Amino acid sequence: MHYFEIKKGWLWCEGVRTVDIAKKTGTPVYIYSHRTLAEHYLKMDEAFSATEHLICYSLKANSSMAIVGSLAKLGAGADIVSGGELYRALRAGIPAGKIVYAGVGKTPEEIEAALRKGVAMFNIESMPEAEAINRIAGKLRKKVNVAFRVNPDVDANTHHYITTGKKENKFGININLALNLFIKAHRKLNNLNVTGVHIHIGSQITKIEAYVRALLKISALIKKLRGAGLDITSLNIGGGLGIIYSNESPATPAEFAEKILPVIHPLGVSLIMEPGRFIVGNAGILLTKVTYVKNGESKNFVIVDAGMNDLIRPSLYDAYHNIIPAQPASGKMKADIVGPICESGDFFGKDRTLPSLKADQYLAVMSAGAYGFSMASNYNSRRKPAEVLVKGNKFFVVRKRETYEDLARGECLPENL
Ligand code: LLP
Repeated sequence: MHYFEIKKGWLWCEGVRTVDIAKKTGTPVYIYSHRTLAEHYLKMDEAFSATEHLICYSLKANSSMAIVGSLAKLGAGADIVSGGELYRALRAGIPAGKIVYAGVGKTPEEIEAALRKGVAMFNIESMPEAEAINRIAGKLRKKVNVAFRVNPDVDANTHHYITTGKKENKFGININLALNLFIKAHRKLNNLNVTGVHIHIGSQITKIEAYVRALLKISALIKKLRGAGLDITSLNIGGGLGIIYSNESPATPAEFAEKILPVIHPLGVSLIMEPGRFIVGNAGILLTKVTYVKNGESKNFVIVDAGMNDLIRPSLYDAYHNIIPAQPASGKMKADIVGPICESGDFFGKDRTLPSLKADQYLAVMSAGAYGFSMASNYNSRRKPAEVLVKGNKFFVVRKRETYEDLARGECLPENL
C-alpha cells in the first residue's frame, strides 16, 4: 500500500507531482510519502491493540531525521544499533525510555552513552557483551533491563544475506545454550535485570509460519526460564515483515497478529516489535533522470543519474525494484537501467520493458524507502542525494543534496608530505 500514483502519465506522491519536486531539488532525489509511512505504523499499532506492545521502529531502514521524527510524533519507539542511531533517535524526539539497543558489537563507549541516556533495554548477543554492560552499568551505579537475543534456528526463507535466525548466522545465542546463559547472567551479573527475550529471524519475510515456529520454541524457553526463577516480562519479536516489491503477497499486520498472538498471549509478556521495511519501504521512491540512452549490439542501456551509491540493493542483493516513468512516455523498449558508476554491478534493473526513453526523462525506482538512503555512500565521490518528505499537497526538502565541500569535510592535506 502506498500513495504514489500515476495520473495521466505523471507520477504523483500524495498531492504533489514528483517531477515538480525534481525541478526544484534536481535528481537523484529520494521522495517519501508521509501518509504512507504513518498509515503503516498505525496499521501495525492497531493490529496489536489487544495486547500491551511497543513498536520500536528500526532506524537502520531509514534514519533520516524527518522520518524518525514523524514516527516519534505518532508514538513510536526506536530499535537502534549504534551510537549514531542513538543520537539520531533522541534528536528526532524519541524518548530514551522507548529505545531498545541491539547489535552484536556494541563498544564500551556506545554502551556508556546509552546507559547515561537511560535507554529502555539492551538486546544482548553474547556473554562477553553482557559482562561488559554489567561492568559499565556498575561503574555508573545503574541497573539496566536487558533481553538476550536468542537464535531459534529457524529458516525464514529469505535472501541468505538477510536471514538471521539460523544457527550458522552470527546473531544471538543458540537456543540450546540459552537457558544456562540466562541463568548465569541472572545470578552473576548484578547490574542487569534479565527481563526479556529477543528474536529477529530475518528480513523481507512474507510467510508468517517461520515466526510461529520460532515463537513456539521461545515460548517453551520462557516457561523454563520462569521455572528457574527469572522474571521474564517482555518479548521482543524483532522486525522482518515483508513488503511488495514485485509480485510478493506478504501477510498484512492483521494476519501477522492473528497468527502470532495466540502463541504470545498466554505468556503474559509485553510485546516489543522492531519493524523497519514494513513502515518505510513502500513509502519512498528514488527519482532519477535519464542521462543517455545507449543502443548496444545485443542490449540497450538506459544510463541514469542515480548510481549504486544512492541505492545499493539491486547490486548487493540482486533485489528487484519496479522502475516506472514519472512523466508521460509512449512506445516500447527493452533495456538495462544502469548508473554512471565504474562497476558492472551498478544497475537498477535488467531487461526491463519500458516506454521508449530518451535523455531527460524522469524515472522512479519504486519501494526505495527502506535501506535506500540509509545504505547510500559517496563511492566515486558522488554526493549523497537530497531527500524530500511529502505531506498532502506540500513538500519539504528534509535533506539537502551534499555539496562538493561536504565530500572533503574533515580531510586535510598534510604539509611537507
Ligand atoms: N531488528 C533487528 C535486530 C534487525 O537486525 C533488523 C534488520 C530489524 C529489526 C528490521 O528489519 P525489517 O523490519 O526492516 O526487515 N539491508 C537489507 C536488510 C537488512 C536487515 C537487517 N536487520 C535490505 O536492504 O534488504
